[in-house]
Amino acid sequence: MAKKSVWSDNRFWQRSAAWITGFASILLIWLTFDTIPQITMGNDADLQSGVTKRVPGPTVINYKITYEMDKKRGHEIPVIGEKEKFFGRDDWSEEEAAALLHLGKLGSQAKNCMNCHTLLGNGAYYAPDLTKSWLDPAWQANGSMQAMTGKSTKEEAMAEFLQHPSQYPTHARMMPNLGITAEEAKGLVAFLKHMSSIDTNGFPRNFGKIQGAVNGK
Ligand code: HEC
Repeated sequence: MAKKSVWSDNRFWQRSAAWITGFASILLIWLTFDTIPQITMGNDADLQSGVTKRVPGPTVINYKITYEMDKKRGHEIPVIGEKEKFFGRDDWSEEEAAALLHLGKLGSQAKNCMNCHTLLGNGAYYAPDLTKSWLDPAWQANGSMQAMTGKSTKEEAMAEFLQHPSQYPTHARMMPNLGITAEEAKGLVAFLKHMSSIDTNGFPRNFGKIQGAVNGK
């Protein structure tokens, strides 16, 4: 009888398929269990004891967040620093902060920010990526947006812009007025501040900064 090549043997292919399916299932289950703790939101106790979580708890709004180069990882990462006032307070409780973030999240869905912007990799590229917009230098004390809006804090400047974006053109594309209330704006800014504190492995690279009218800041 002629020797049959292994490549034309049905049993060989059946066995290979079974082994590969089995191996891939185990790998996926392992990856799922490995990922869950990494993407689980931290809490206030972590923040108070300086434990770094990829997704910090809502009370991160009570802290200053900076974006710093991590040489080892080769990209910038959000660094949570000292306490900082957010709308006049640095003692937002876990419940209050979570409620504010929730309001912002619902607002971002109701007003469909993703129709123009990108958030954590989802959305459009018509307008600047919002994942790290809280860290855009334009909103800082010496940045153009505080000067333009006449506000003296980052959060107030952002909230003012969100309520009346068409009043603050930056000679780039303009954001239309979306009928955002003062309360919604507060929630949206909290939502954006929290989002900027998430360690996204340096994504997006060169996050879209608003084209500042004054010295490009
Ligand atoms: C119709 C498109 C559109 C929608 C919808 C929209 N925006 Fe914008 N947004 C823009 C454009 C365009 C700019 C850039 C404005 C400029 O450069 O003057 C902008 C700028 C911004 C900035 C400043 C970005 C930075 O890097 O500093 C923030 C913050 C912002 N938008 C938040 C929001 C939020 C929150 C929502 C949803 C509630 C939203 N936008 C919905 C078009 C939009």
